[in-house]
Amino acid sequence: MQVNLPFNQIEWSEMMATGIAQIDTQHRYLIDTLRDANANLPGDRRGTLLPEVTRMLLNYAIMHFDTEEGLMQRYGYEAAFPDVARQHIAQHRAFSRHVVIVCDSLREGRPVAKLDLLQYLNNWLRDHIMGIDQLLGAFLRDAQERTGTPVKPL
Ligand SMILES: [Fe+2]
Ligand SMILES: [Fe+2]
Repeated sequence: MQVNLPFNQIEWSEMMATGIAQIDTQHRYLIDTLRDANANLPGDRRGTLLPEVTRMLLNYAIMHFDTEEGLMQRYGYEAAFPDVARQHIAQHRAFSRHVVIVCDSLREGRPVAKLDLLQYLNNWLRDHIMGIDQLLGAFLRDAQERTGTPVKPL
């Protein structure tokens, strides 16, 4: 269901594909989950969905960051591109920090602006997938071609 929101909702497009099956599957799941949150959170007057959805997104995102960082390690990304690898991991940590703070606020009963949170999540995910994840994707596709086998975590 498409709802009217004061920001651009994330939407899967072929430009987001990295060509690495595991990463693309996880990205699609994150995008689908976030689009559900876009559709359901604004109308959730009692606010019961917010802690649940935020916690679930955080857990899945952390698992996904682990996948990417495991692939970086396995295929020597940090040795090949130390600056961009550091920057990539720093973006993952900044996201986790932001969402952990939101989870803490919700647990302690402090108010959380739903639309601000959704806007942050939509923008961060779109920028990250279309930006620095594409560099990692290109590197891993290269490794895939060099070795002749699909990349996978250890
Ligand atoms: Fe990433
Ligand atoms: Fe990613």
